[in-house]
Amino acid sequence: MDTHICILAAGQSKRMKSKVSKLLHPLCGKPMIEHVRDVAAELEPATCAVVAGFQRDQVMDALHRKPVDFVVQQEQLGTGHAVSEFLKQYPAIEGVLLVMNGDTPLVHADLLRRLLALHMEKKASVSLLTTDLPDATGYGRIVRGKGGMIERIVEEADATEHERAIHEINSGIYAFDIARLRALLPLVNANNKQKEYYLPDVIEFSLMEKRIVVPFKANSEEVLGINTRVELANAEKILRRRINEYWMLRGVTMRDPESTYVDADVQIAPDTVLYPNVYLEGSTSIGADVTIHQNCRITDSFIDDRCVIYESSSIELAHLEQNVKIGPFARIRPDSYLHTGVRIGNFVELKKTNIGRDSKANHLSYLGDATIGRDVNVGAGTITCNYDGEKKHPTVIEDGVFIGSDTQLIAPVKVGKGAYVAAGSSITEDVPADSLAIARGRQINKEGWVAKKRKTTKTQRHEESK
Ligand code: UD1
Ligand code: CA
Repeated sequence: MDTHICILAAGQSKRMKSKVSKLLHPLCGKPMIEHVRDVAAELEPATCAVVAGFQRDQVMDALHRKPVDFVVQQEQLGTGHAVSEFLKQYPAIEGVLLVMNGDTPLVHADLLRRLLALHMEKKASVSLLTTDLPDATGYGRIVRGKGGMIERIVEEADATEHERAIHEINSGIYAFDIARLRALLPLVNANNKQKEYYLPDVIEFSLMEKRIVVPFKANSEEVLGINTRVELANAEKILRRRINEYWMLRGVTMRDPESTYVDADVQIAPDTVLYPNVYLEGSTSIGADVTIHQNCRITDSFIDDRCVIYESSSIELAHLEQNVKIGPFARIRPDSYLHTGVRIGNFVELKKTNIGRDSKANHLSYLGDATIGRDVNVGAGTITCNYDGEKKHPTVIEDGVFIGSDTQLIAPVKVGKGAYVAAGSSITEDVPADSLAIARGRQINKEGWVAKKRKTTKTQRHEESK
């Protein structure tokens, strides 16, 4: 039998108190809705469509990384209405429809497969995932009658005090027999507190028809929904713990996993050590035997084997080859490429800079739009003056160059292979290979000048005090 999937993502998310649809809020670096779409894709359904409405362009945009279909729900009249709109777009599909809420991103494919298997086995009309929660606030409650049989689902807004005390909740994940769903959805009305067409009402109608309804109680955090920022933070914590456990079991050491933040799409090789408050973001990939000390943030970067990132450094869109050492307190900005063995020390900022093998910039420098060769030594306080107020200009420093401390390289400028630049120079012209450039005021020593000045001042004071 074919399985089709409908993901509900058209709602307004009022309880988030956000101008942005909650489905776009990220969990471990990935929009909530993308987590749900990805788990749906694992089931390889015949049809997979996301119902979008509120901020639909942004929701569609958030899902651009993998193909998925969309159904537009112009007016958000409730979850029942959203599924009707889906069925209207696919009038010919048959078999099972798995409906998932876009705000339930912790579910695994395995649990969904178990729900579908149970649904088939029991030849059910509807099967739904439920769970017991100590605090069920915000969820629809499962009302059970004689012999513990399910009777209906009551939304919190419509529930009596007695019903609100029920701990078993509807997860918003259901398997429906499509033919029955098509027949029963038109019976759903909006006569309730929220004036919405509730999808869970289909359960009551199915029971009235004496069809088989299977509540599958999965006592699991996987079915937690996100309506508020408190729930968002809680879900992210669960996801973070899962990601960290995944990497630790694959050989990554985390000194304190509670305060290690690894995004969903990051890759890390074994024997890498992460200290507390390390953030690995976006599409970052970390090699083996890398050490990243506390308070570092690495975004969309490639860090190869045996690199060491000392504390409080920031790296964005950069590529570090093997054995590169960075920091402490270094900032590597986008489009920087550091070859094997490069050493970048404290308070050094790089932007769009390519540094050759074994070169060093150990202290207090700004290197922007620069191409630096191998075995170069950039002295403390060196600055590439790359910006003239209108345009950015390049600096080229060839292999084996020695740049003395406190040098300004006024770009565009080139320092030829093996050249030396004397400390304190302002280099405005190209330096030929193997030569020494000195570009600073000459020092003059006026001998005895201070002693003479002291004597005059003393005589003056003496005159004045008379
Ligand atoms: C829903 C269920 C509730 C269940 C809970 C589980 C209903 C009426 N209630 O409540 O029983 O316990 O999920 O988390 O279904 N959406 C649309 N179009 C709409 C309205 C909503 O696409 O017109 C989408 C939302 O974007 C969201 C999902 O459907 O992703 C659920 O909507 P939400 O308003 O969060 O429902 P809950 O009140 O949480
Ligand atoms: Ca919800």
